[in-house]
Parts: sequence; C-alpha cells; structure tokens
Amino acid sequence: MATFQGDLPDLTQPDLAQTKPPKGNGLASVYIETYGCQMNVYDSQAINGLLEDAGFDIVQHDLEADVILLNTCSVRDLAEHKIFSRVGDLRHRRTKTELPQPVIGVCGCMAERMGKDLRKGQRRVDLVVGVDNYDTLPDLLGKLTAKTISPHAHDERTVTGHRSDAHYVAPPSLYPVNNSHLVTIHKGCDYKCTYCIVPYTRGPQSEKSPEAIVAEIAGIVAGGGTEVTLLGQNVTAYNWQQDMDFAKLIEEVAEIDGLERIRFLTGHPTDMHPHLMDTIGRLDKVCPWLHVPVQSGSDRVLRRMKRLYNSTGYLEMVEYAHKVIPDVTFSTDFIVGFPGETEADFQDTLEMARKVKYDQAFCFKYSERPGVPAAKLDDDVPDEEKKRRLAELLAVQEETWNAAATACVGQVWTGVVEGPARHQDQRDKGPSWRLRTANNRKIIVHGGDFEVGAEFTARINGYKNTSFLGEIQD
Ligand code: SAH
Ligand code: SF4
Ligand code: F3S
Repeated sequence: MATFQGDLPDLTQPDLAQTKPPKGNGLASVYIETYGCQMNVYDSQAINGLLEDAGFDIVQHDLEADVILLNTCSVRDLAEHKIFSRVGDLRHRRTKTELPQPVIGVCGCMAERMGKDLRKGQRRVDLVVGVDNYDTLPDLLGKLTAKTISPHAHDERTVTGHRSDAHYVAPPSLYPVNNSHLVTIHKGCDYKCTYCIVPYTRGPQSEKSPEAIVAEIAGIVAGGGTEVTLLGQNVTAYNWQQDMDFAKLIEEVAEIDGLERIRFLTGHPTDMHPHLMDTIGRLDKVCPWLHVPVQSGSDRVLRRMKRLYNSTGYLEMVEYAHKVIPDVTFSTDFIVGFPGETEADFQDTLEMARKVKYDQAFCFKYSERPGVPAAKLDDDVPDEEKKRRLAELLAVQEETWNAAATACVGQVWTGVVEGPARHQDQRDKGPSWRLRTANNRKIIVHGGDFEVGAEFTARINGYKNTSFLGEIQD
C-alpha cells in the first residue's frame, strides 16, 4: 500500500496491509533498478507498491519486463554516467535477444536534475518522472504501454517539479532490507552545502507528519518487524511544525510496543545537540551508531563547503557522544580534492580520521555538479592528486580501523541475525550468517541454523575487512 500522506490507510489492519489486486490482468510488467542512497531504495519500494496496487506486475529481471524504471542518483558525475551506459546496455540486450524493446523510464534525482534533456540524443529514454511525482506513474505507464502517447509528446512524458504534499509510504510487506525496515521521515534539504546537488534534486526540506511516521511503523510492527531505520538527508534536522524535533520524534517512536531497535541516517554535525545525544543515550531502543559525515578536517575547507561547523566543534560533539551514549560508534563521509584544498588541508582531514577512529568512512573524490555554488570555484586539484589523496585517506582509515578492530578481539557482543553471509566460504562448518550489533558492527558466524531477526551473543575471534568473525555463545 503506497500512498500520499493525506490519504493514509490503517496499516495496522493485517487485511488491508495484505490486500493486492490479482496478477495477470493484462497490465504491463515492470522492473525497477535502484541507484544512489537509501532514500531511493525506499522510494523504489513505494513505486513498487503504487504500481502493484494499480495492477501492474513487478518482476525481478529486466528481460521479463515491458517497462524498466531506473531510479537514479546525481550526487557525482560518475553516478550519472553509469545510467547512460546502462540505458544503452538495456536496449542492446533486447536487440540481441530479439525481444521487443522495453519502455525505459528514468526516475529519481537525475530525472529531476535533467528533465527533458533525458529525452534527447542517442541514449534517450521514453519517460522521465521526478522524485515528487511517482503517483503519476500508473496512469503514464498505462498510456505508454497502450501506445496512446505520441513518442514526440515530450511534455507528457516528462513529469518533474517539487510538491510539498508528496510523502510516500512504502508497503511494509515489501520489507525488510536486512531485517531493518526503512522509513523516510522527511525529504529534501535546506542546508545547501556548496558542492551538493541534493537540495536541487530533492527540493526544500519537508516533514512527514509524526502521526504518519508512527502509523507506518505500527504497521511494520503489526507485520512482524522489529527494527526501523529512520531516513532523511538530515534526519537530525527533523522539525514538524516547529513543535516536534528529532529528539521528541524518537521518544515517540520508541513508545511503539513491539519495536525493538531504531536506527537513523544521516545526521548533520550541526544538529547533534547535547540534548539530542542525551536522548539517544537514554532510550534503550535507539541504536548507538552515529553516521555524521564530517567531509573534511580543515576549517578553511569546511567554511568553503558551508558545512556550518568547524573541526573543534565536531570533535567536541564526538567527545560528548562518547560520554552519554554507551558503546557509541561513528561512521562518516569524506570528500577529497574540494576546490582550493591544499596539502595542509588534506593533512587535517587525515588527522580527523585518526582522531575520531570511524568504524566506516565513505570517501569520495570531489566531483563538480552543474549549477551548485562550488561550480563557480576553480576545480583546481588535478585528478591524479585527488586519486592520491583518496588512496592515502583510505589507507589511514584502514590503519585506524585495524587497530580498533584488533582491540575488540575477545569481547562478547549481542547481535541480530540479518541473513546469510555474502561469502559462504566455510561450508565444512555449515552455512555462514551475518549478525549486526546495535552499534552497527557486522559479525560473521559459521554453522547453525538461524532465523532472521533472532538475537545471539557471539565471542569475537578476529576480523576480516569491516566484518568481525565470531562464535555463537550458548
Ligand atoms: N545529507 C548527507 C549526505 C548527502 S550525499 C550529508 O549531509 O552528509 C552523500 C555524500 O556524498 C556526502 O556526504 C558527500 O560526502 C558526498 N558528496 C556529495 N556531493 C558530492 C560531490 N559533488 N562530489 C563528491 N562527493 C559528494
Ligand atoms: Fe547535501 Fe549538505 Fe544537504 Fe547533505 S546537508 S544533502 S551534503 S546539501
Ligand atoms: Fe543520490 Fe539523490 Fe540520494 S542525488 S544520494 S539519490 S538524494
């Protein structure tokens, strides 16, 4: 059941949550492929729900589909290039198999950024639908597959533009992703960091109401879910009608009976007020894991990025979190090679990684995005130098992580089974499983027969990359 906020069904009623129209009613089959961040993963689930409700058949393979929707990301140049080559690839696969060409649609951030331009040139697509207009998809796909819209009707085939009322609710029955149900709590972003395209593709920040969020999570719990990940570009900036901030919201969500764990992504360092950290530390259900991207360790670069904090403030936040949130862990994003970043600035970034000791760091080379404020600056760090800085930062991160991970050997942790491990490389001991701790550490265990969602304690014997290797304790 995917819907808009003004039209919320009572998802706690199992009958309603499970009602689906019969399949095979003559409407098209649709394959959805998702790129980018977790918000796109959630949106794809919402699109899936909207289309299934309308009677479309959602399929898991592109060659089975009449319609292929690519839910895209614009955050870096490379992300967009991938989509152009994917469109060519999808068309080529059909030519090779002699199956009819599919309708190809682009949704998500690229649709919003490029609009009608995606309907030009060799790699043009049939349909462009931006992030706030997925409710138009059933009607449009019906017309496109019935061929009642002319191939030249560019206006009809391009639906973009921001709408503050568009808050999707993805069907709880489609989840979870790794045992955690994603729940988008607001959309857009008002921060306008100078390098970032998101405020333009996702529009201004707009909150889903607390009632809608609580109803959605109650529906998830009624369907057997025990864990949610609250999503937004800056969840910590959540503020419903100036009356309910993120701290109050998580208090309310934590009241939901049967819900066991609450995670959230992404936090902005500026919003990590002591009061919020106190609340996170106090509420047992809220997981002690903070993804608070620092981007750079240099105050000069942070100012030019318009990140609204400095390195000292960030480190104070980390120190306070350690004080009030037991077992807290941190993860981050870094950008290297921002315009004007000197070697000294970069050394400050390395210093930040060493000081905070992040569990995970997602590191990116700066990529100029059209129309953002930083595009006016000279992209003066040569690509070779960006590559070198990226490699050095990754090496420092690995070194810090190895030291932190080694110190964990011998400890006993509690984790929840998320599913089978990706690599089943110890078959003699039976299947391998992936557990996740509240503070977001992965543990791989071998042997045994586990149920997804079950909780176990494991002794940590070692680690491999970012996963710990453990042994279940009786
Ligand atoms: N809202 C989050 C994340 C936004 S996008 C935040 O404020 O941190 C995810 C990550 O992509 C960012 O944290 C940043 O590290 C990276 N990113 C965004 N724009 C980029 C660009 N132009 N070039 C390289 N990396 C970028
Ligand atoms: Fe982009 Fe900054 Fe908004 Fe994050 S806070 S989405 S990096 S503008
Ligand atoms: Fe990418 Fe859009 Fe998410 S640009 S990171 S898919 S908000």
